[in-house]
Amino acid sequence: MCGIVGYVGDNKSIEVLLGGLKRLEYRGYDSAGVAVIDADGHLATRKRAGKLQVLVDDLAAHPLGNGATGIGHTRWATHGGPTDVNAHPHLSADGKLALIHNGIIENFSELKQELLDAGAVFSSETDTEVAALLVGREYEATNDLTEALRRVVARLDGAFTLLVMHEDQPGLVVGARRNSPLVIGLGDGENFLGSDVAAFVQFTKRAMAIGQDQIVAIRPDSVEVTDFAGAPVEVEEFEIAWDASASEKGGWSSFMAKEISEEPDAVANTILGRVHDGVVTLSELDPIGDEALADIDRIVIIACGTAAYAGMLGKYAIEQWARIPVEVDLAHEFRYRNPILTSRTLVISISQSGETMDTLMAVKFATAAGARVLSVCNTQGATIPRESDAVVYTHAGPEVAVASTKAFLAQMTALYLIGLHLAKVRGTLAAAEIRENVGELQAIPAKIAEVLAVSQAEIGQLAHWMTDVQSVLFLGRNVGFPVALEGALKLKELAYIHAEGFAAGELKHGPIALIEPGQVVFVIVPSPRDPDSLHPKVVSNIQEIRARGARVIAIAEKGDAAVLPFADEVIPIPLAGTLFEPFLTVVPLHIFGMELAAAKGLDVDQPRNLAKSVTVE
Ligand code: F6R
Repeated sequence: MCGIVGYVGDNKSIEVLLGGLKRLEYRGYDSAGVAVIDADGHLATRKRAGKLQVLVDDLAAHPLGNGATGIGHTRWATHGGPTDVNAHPHLSADGKLALIHNGIIENFSELKQELLDAGAVFSSETDTEVAALLVGREYEATNDLTEALRRVVARLDGAFTLLVMHEDQPGLVVGARRNSPLVIGLGDGENFLGSDVAAFVQFTKRAMAIGQDQIVAIRPDSVEVTDFAGAPVEVEEFEIAWDASASEKGGWSSFMAKEISEEPDAVANTILGRVHDGVVTLSELDPIGDEALADIDRIVIIACGTAAYAGMLGKYAIEQWARIPVEVDLAHEFRYRNPILTSRTLVISISQSGETMDTLMAVKFATAAGARVLSVCNTQGATIPRESDAVVYTHAGPEVAVASTKAFLAQMTALYLIGLHLAKVRGTLAAAEIRENVGELQAIPAKIAEVLAVSQAEIGQLAHWMTDVQSVLFLGRNVGFPVALEGALKLKELAYIHAEGFAAGELKHGPIALIEPGQVVFVIVPSPRDPDSLHPKVVSNIQEIRARGARVIAIAEKGDAAVLPFADEVIPIPLAGTLFEPFLTVVPLHIFGMELAAAKGLDVDQPRNLAKSVTVE
């Protein structure tokens, strides 16, 4: 949601802002705008509803001047529809100050009334304009942009990142953040601000993440960070691990296609450096410590959407290997139901972006309740890792398509590594067993590559004959169940059709009533080789739905002859142990969601109504 870019440097602000906004497009937005100080020293803005290209074309037709100071914004509408007027930046009453905002100012109605009583005139329906008018007023009183912003943030409730610039202060952009992302990019004679490092990674690899309730003032040669009370704050620099090219589409038809092709690497890179001689070593867990890890009596995994499904799979692995009870909760449900947490509870949060507000709030809640919090995150400098006791980064690289794919596999990898690490410190698996599981995990990337090579064309064809299908069901048992949920979510969000995932054992408890002739059902079939396998039960489920006319697409281990007579299509996957099957069975479902959306002519990378980073509750 909302992308933010700020720049001070030489005369290339428009280029930096538009390039940054382009790279932040993935976050989801419905209008875009920029403000710069033009060659005559005046503040100039341009903002347009619609795709960034509308703004780019407008600026090409009527250039603003490529000044040395600027701010840019992509807006995901909350207060007021996606119109030119509601787009950011918003201006102070004298038009000399421009402000952009990500988040929600919860007390904006009271503040707006106060401004209206004082004679202010509003031109938009946004909560943001309140902040612009207030900072403008404080600037008139102080002549100090940082102080003006500080005075205003002290009055705001809610979550926000704000950037401001003023016509009388060229070479200065000031930002403030509370519960909403903001990172600094350090250049040579130029500095940057962004919602995340993608905003400026093409210009610099040096970055700093600022903390909660802090204010940053960037000038071409300096960066100054203070807290909301004005006290200086030391901020640590980090090097951005992502390549600028990693967030480019390259020759792919969509970012999603590219990201699915990167699924083997996402797993391999997340393992890299964390296994030595068959033993998992997660030094990232040191801040919690092996002694505390050995002592925990319960794990609660919190996440949203696809990340929560990765969490469900983590539960199977961690319980199996480390013999600790694991609960998985949607972050927004967890946070508001007074959960039981003690100092022996380990909370594991999972978030690709590290900015999901529901997850962030749950993390803060857990910390305040005395639990230890470990985050699994894909984005350096993000807020959730900063609020956690420890972080295991997934190394999936930037995920640009709104629908999560490679990050899901990387999250599973991280959770499996955590499970094996816990098994080691708690002594629940022998060294040989750990080594065996590590070996299975290390073999996964090559097997995913095999699934990609074998199933891509077949699934593309399936998708083409299914463009008119109104409903698709997904069935799985045990580790196949979260995979079924993930397959259904992908179809809903990408192809906009009704899709539901069920635990196959639930079928006879209700969902079987949905089966009528022609109903498409994907079934995730466990391997028949495991003596404890649920394979026979799933094959029975297939027969039950087939008998009622369902069209069955089975994702099954190659060579599984038992499913052949009952399935209309079989998508083969390589052999793997039960816990490792989801790494493979989910891949065809990712491809299917993408292919069906593409076959329906939909925007695969930016589905309607969705944002990549859900930074409001
Ligand atoms: C689905 C999807 C979402 C995210 C969810 C959490 O394809 O992408 O369900 O998984 O919004 O996002 P993060 O992982 O950034 O917290």
